[in-house]
Amino acid sequence: MPYEIADPSLAAAGADRIAWADRAMPVLRRVRERFTADRPLAGLRVGACLHVTAETANLLRTLAAGGADVHLCASNPLSTRDDVAAALALEHGVAVHAVRGADLAGYRRHVGAVAGAAPQLVLDDGCDLVVALHTDHPELARQVLAGCEDTTTGVLRLRAMAGAGALAFGVVALDDTPLRRIADHRHGTGQSTVDGILRATNLLLAGRCVVVAGYGPVGRGIAERMRALGASVVVTEVDPVRALDALLAGYRVLSMAEAAALGDVIVTATGNRDVVAAEHLAVLRDGAVLANAGHFDVEIDVRRLREEAVSVRRVRPAAEEFRFADGRTVVLLAEGRIVNLGAAEGNPPAVMDMAFAEQALTTAWLARNHAALRPGVHAVPADIGPEVARLELDSLGVRLDRLTDAQRRYLSAWETPTWVGA
Ligand SMILES: NC(=O)c1ccc[n+]([C@@H]2O[C@H](COP(=O)([O-])OP(=O)(O)OC[C@H]3O[C@@H](n4cnc5c(N)ncnc54)[C@H](O)[C@@H]3O)[C@@H](O)[C@H]2O)c1
Repeated sequence: MPYEIADPSLAAAGADRIAWADRAMPVLRRVRERFTADRPLAGLRVGACLHVTAETANLLRTLAAGGADVHLCASNPLSTRDDVAAALALEHGVAVHAVRGADLAGYRRHVGAVAGAAPQLVLDDGCDLVVALHTDHPELARQVLAGCEDTTTGVLRLRAMAGAGALAFGVVALDDTPLRRIADHRHGTGQSTVDGILRATNLLLAGRCVVVAGYGPVGRGIAERMRALGASVVVTEVDPVRALDALLAGYRVLSMAEAAALGDVIVTATGNRDVVAAEHLAVLRDGAVLANAGHFDVEIDVRRLREEAVSVRRVRPAAEEFRFADGRTVVLLAEGRIVNLGAAEGNPPAVMDMAFAEQALTTAWLARNHAALRPGVHAVPADIGPEVARLELDSLGVRLDRLTDAQRRYLSAWETPTWVGA
């Protein structure tokens, strides 16, 4: 089995890390038991381009338990855990191509290796594997049965490909499920982004002004936690409904041109580029901290920051200080890449448990239903999210009420007026 990893001697440490995460992933364990018995992926080659973390490792173990031959590359070189990559390659039979901190050429080689393995099912996080298949291996893209995509940014790209008639197979958008938006984007990324900023800086947030750019589920989750820690939170938005939502939740809503001059910490969570751009760099407060939680490192104009700085020095492992000619300094965290993975450990395993259980069940669904899936972007089947939520509540010992027959009839009746009992 081919693999490219940093250091095989890290495999034992990686196995411990994977086992630790597994303790907090009861739902995925239940799915794995089911897969071991039913083998829904028997004989299928799965290509995955995902963050190489302990939680991802437990997803891949689950797919392998379902019978899949799994090939993995990193969707972001900074998030790769080299010990996890080693354990996956040496102890779990996964063809891993991932090295933490790989340069662009290495990143492309790793994605290319997974694309070149001719996957039948594709699990992507940011669409790079799907794009590599279509541009570098169009003949292999045509052989892919179906795929699924983890992030908002990746789904936007897939929709653009589908709109241009360029997408060769059906892809299910995992980012858009109600379960993901709540568990992963809002609570998971909200917490781990604050965790990353704190680990990188050890700042006191109470009484500080924190600017959150973008009030999607990720921005909302960050804003809630920053406020809970005593920060005064400003939100910037381009969508009027989301901006109103933030305003009615009690946040100040300003344009970035106004907010940039106020923020002690500025966090981007938009999925967009140049959200903190040259004109904002010019007005940042002395000592301002810049961090990004959105998918890629284009939200803060890091290139411009480097050009404008008269000096740059690393002040902590995940923090660089830039000094401008006028004497101001600003601190950039994790090089402008996703701070929750660049400076902390990403979402807690308990969150990824739900996201990855949904992903594993969706992958099994794709194996059964790909023939009926036209090229394009599709929703996760409606029954999978509730099934995962039920398993999660079950694992926590939480009981739900159940609809009585009379309630079910009442909710679905239209012949009788709403005030008449069944
Ligand atoms: N760090 C992680 O682990 C993690 C996890 C999940 C999602 N993400 C990423 O975080 C980003 C946000 O995710 P989401 O689910 O909240 O997405 P979303 O699309 O629902 O929300 C993004 C918001 O940003 C706003 N926006 C766009 N351009 C803007 C601009 N120039 N200024 C201000 N606001 C702007 C949009 O109007 C939207 O409301 C995406 O890139 C997603 O891929 C990261």
